[in-house]
Amino acid sequence: MNIDLSTNIGSLKLNNPVGTASGTFGYGYEYEGLLDFTKLGAIYTKAITLHPRQGNPLPRIVETDSGMINSIGLANVGLEKFITDKIPGFPRLGSKIIVNVAGSSPEEYKAVVETLSEIEQIHGFEINLSCPNVKQGCLAFGTDPRNVENLTRQLKALTKKPIIIKLTPNVTDITAIAIAAEAGGADAVSCINTLVGMKIDIKKKDFCIAMKTGGLSGPAIKPVGVAAVYKVSKAVKIPVVGIGGIAKWEDAVEYLLAGASSIQIGTYNFVEPAIVEEIHDGIATYMQENNIATIKDFHSILD
Ligand SMILES: Cc1cc2nc3c(=O)[nH]c(=O)nc-3n(C[C@H](O)[C@H](O)[C@H](O)COP(=O)(O)O)c2cc1C
Repeated sequence: MNIDLSTNIGSLKLNNPVGTASGTFGYGYEYEGLLDFTKLGAIYTKAITLHPRQGNPLPRIVETDSGMINSIGLANVGLEKFITDKIPGFPRLGSKIIVNVAGSSPEEYKAVVETLSEIEQIHGFEINLSCPNVKQGCLAFGTDPRNVENLTRQLKALTKKPIIIKLTPNVTDITAIAIAAEAGGADAVSCINTLVGMKIDIKKKDFCIAMKTGGLSGPAIKPVGVAAVYKVSKAVKIPVVGIGGIAKWEDAVEYLLAGASSIQIGTYNFVEPAIVEEIHDGIATYMQENNIATIKDFHSILD
């Protein structure tokens, strides 16, 4: 049977539902030569802030059972260097580029989106309202529905490109935040960002992460992500991008069956840089074998 892997985020058409999650795939170039980029529908960049950021003190990464904790703290080159050094090469990669935007005030988010909104090589924005690793910053925004709705509305007024609001699982009711994003005019929501986690070195009797806590990611969080996508996709009409613990094509199919219109692979890029290809091909074969013609058709299978 003929299958169609394409999927939409607002007005943006992706050739296939496979994306790479912010902060785990650099700016894309780092993976050139390691995989076939035609199998990658979208690259979500490392978070871009108005000014360059060094990030948090070391150590800021530790492995855990079935995952990792990071406390990078949004280290990035800043808007200016992103424009001069990173954007010019994006067309070479061939995938759609979605810029992950972070900030410590609404003004900072607005400045980044406004500046990038006229640049052709950028196809959309993912607004990181959910980073657990910055002291005063995005987590505070991302947990209050009124803030989320207001900021989304303000950002939508600044650009014609799609706006995806990235949701944190570190809230009592994730659907309330998704509904607020939709009310503000978001084109999609993505979930989930990392869960707050801690690891203690019992020999050194010290925290493994300098900031004590960080964001837990990897296979350990997949069931949390799948449940979030299921609940959120029932609560809103806009597309849901599924993220969290995807390590093989079967995981991606679970997210699509739960209601995701596309997915992102995060931590597993560090384990297997070409995992994108396996996941792309696995989804396609599953669709063939199960008579699923389009990505939308996944959504009418489960109640
Ligand atoms: C090292 C690292 C850095 C990250 N940086 C960002 C970031 O800059 N912006 C963001 O929205 N999410 C960031 N994330 C979260 C991921 O994009 C993703 O939501 C999360 O890791 C869950 O997916 P996974 O289990 O497949 O890794 C980061 C995750 C990791 C592991």
